[in-house]
Amino acid sequence: MTGVTHTLPILMTEPPPPAPGTVRHDLRLIDSHGRTIRDLRLSVTDRCNFRCVYCMEPDVRFKRKMDLLTLPEMVRLASLCVEMGVRKIRITGGEPTIYPHLDELIAALADLPIEDLAMTTNGSLLTSEQARAWRRLGLRRLTFSIDTLRDERFTAITRSTSNPTRVLDAVRIARDEGLTPVRLNAVIMRGFNDDEIADLAGLARDLGVEVRFIEYMPLDSARAWDRSRLVPAREIVDAIRRRFELVPLGRESPNATATRYAFADGAPGAIGIIASVTQVFCDHCSRLRITADGQLRTCLFSTREFDLRGPMRRGITDDDLRLLLLDATWTKPRGHEINSPDYEQPARPMSSIGG
Ligand code: 5AD
Ligand code: SF4
Repeated sequence: MTGVTHTLPILMTEPPPPAPGTVRHDLRLIDSHGRTIRDLRLSVTDRCNFRCVYCMEPDVRFKRKMDLLTLPEMVRLASLCVEMGVRKIRITGGEPTIYPHLDELIAALADLPIEDLAMTTNGSLLTSEQARAWRRLGLRRLTFSIDTLRDERFTAITRSTSNPTRVLDAVRIARDEGLTPVRLNAVIMRGFNDDEIADLAGLARDLGVEVRFIEYMPLDSARAWDRSRLVPAREIVDAIRRRFELVPLGRESPNATATRYAFADGAPGAIGIIASVTQVFCDHCSRLRITADGQLRTCLFSTREFDLRGPMRRGITDDDLRLLLLDATWTKPRGHEINSPDYEQPARPMSSIGG
């Protein structure tokens, strides 16, 4: 790829000496710790019809519509990121299925030269027609959240009017419509659902999907996270092993978030463990996030954001926008500091960062 020299005087015969931030010969998104960005998580709305206890407060205030990225703005950013090395895009929220232009967005993103296009949803609103349409438009796969199989608990955790049956129906729809491999995410919190770990693991076998257990992270808008609520990965795996024999498969790739297990008896499905707190996997992180209001976040736990929306609305050129993305990516922190005594929780909850 050629370098961008957006201040190069036209009549110069020799290139000017490189000025920081203005000359780049390598337009790949890389950071100062040697990591290459391959995955983009694009949050399309900060709204959600759930209010999960580990994510969103009931009295949450959403962004104004004018402060959210428009469809062309999202597509522009995604295209530039793909030009600069992104190979996978995940559409997230809030709840992405309530974003009004989702079909058009899927179609536009699927047109880009990427290897994977996935979406995370709570599954409460999915219909077969939608799943079929998204598949046709180029969506590859869906990831659902389900933290409990019990109706009352579901109500208590999600503070929604949905229920586990509804979500499991959506999982079957996704599977039957070929939005596969389907994944189910379960955030495990002590005292909320830690007695259901093996039951949730059983879903993987029953449905032939991957169930991923996620350690509870300090990203809740209530700021109620505390270590006593965290169920460490070790304990999660032990709980599953008391019911099912597991065969470790390791990580699918070095930058994957989950370590995986198969069932020793050959049953379908798989288990994934995302140990964000107790087995930090930041060293191989390849992810970048763009929030629904157009802020670039280089890490889930960043306290710093880079505004992309403002410059775009003020008419920034593609060349300058590329430089902005490159410079921001360069600052990606080495890793999160959850385990350090002076850890400071980011101001944004997961719902407005995008999972
Ligand atoms: N800790 C861990 N996972 C979380 N998610 C949301 N908030 C948290 C948290 N505090 C997960 C949800 C969903 C994904 C988008 O992010 O379970 O699957
Ligand atoms: Fe909505 Fe997902 Fe947050 Fe729950 S975790 S409130 S489903 S965005």
